[in-house]
Amino acid sequence: MPATPQTPTVRHATPDDLPSIIALENKCFPGPIAYTPRQLCYLLTTANSAVLVETLHNRLRGFIIILYRRGSTTAGIETIDVDPDAQRNGIARRLLTAAEDDMHAHHIARVRLEVSTQNTPAIGLYQHAGYNTTEFLHNYYTYKHHGSRDAFRMTKDLS
Ligand SMILES: CC(C)(COP(=O)(O)OP(=O)(O)OC[C@H]1O[C@@H](n2cnc3c(N)ncnc32)[C@H](O)[C@@H]1OP(=O)(O)O)[C@@H](O)C(=O)NCCC(=O)NCCS
Repeated sequence: MPATPQTPTVRHATPDDLPSIIALENKCFPGPIAYTPRQLCYLLTTANSAVLVETLHNRLRGFIIILYRRGSTTAGIETIDVDPDAQRNGIARRLLTAAEDDMHAHHIARVRLEVSTQNTPAIGLYQHAGYNTTEFLHNYYTYKHHGSRDAFRMTKDLS
């Protein structure tokens, strides 16, 4: 059996990570706004995507999902979740850096994402990482995220 890494590790997810990813999604997004287990399973096993996880002592503390589109040099960040018990330790920043490395390997020139206008931590994370707000999307979400259905679209040039 391989030794358990003693330092934080970012790696590609495997199907064995799915239960921990589902649990973390529901911890970060209680209620109807969470991706369903079926959607997460699709994103992990079938979609043209990359799912990266951050672990410490084999405990999954965060994940990020990137969606690629065949023939496109633009990729999307679908979501990023960090365990509330482990936030403000640089985990999201590590995941985002690893995601951008993965996108470079896929020859991606531009990344885009949508974030609730009320999600201050996520907006701070993306701004810190060089993302710019390019659009305001009124009533973007079906359900309120952090108290709002409005979103910002944010983009970053990777080339
Ligand atoms: C957004 C989220 C992923 C940040 O994860 P994290 O591991 O705590 O973030 P990091 O420690 O890597 O912080 C990186 C930067 O993000 C910003 N940031 C993170 N949390 C913040 C907060 N609560 N308030 C303001 N800025 C914050 C800061 O700029 C921070 O840099 P700093 O610590 O040097 O000030 C986390 O809060 C989370 O999982 N939230 C719930 C799920 C979610 O909303 N995901 C976003 C979907 S679009």
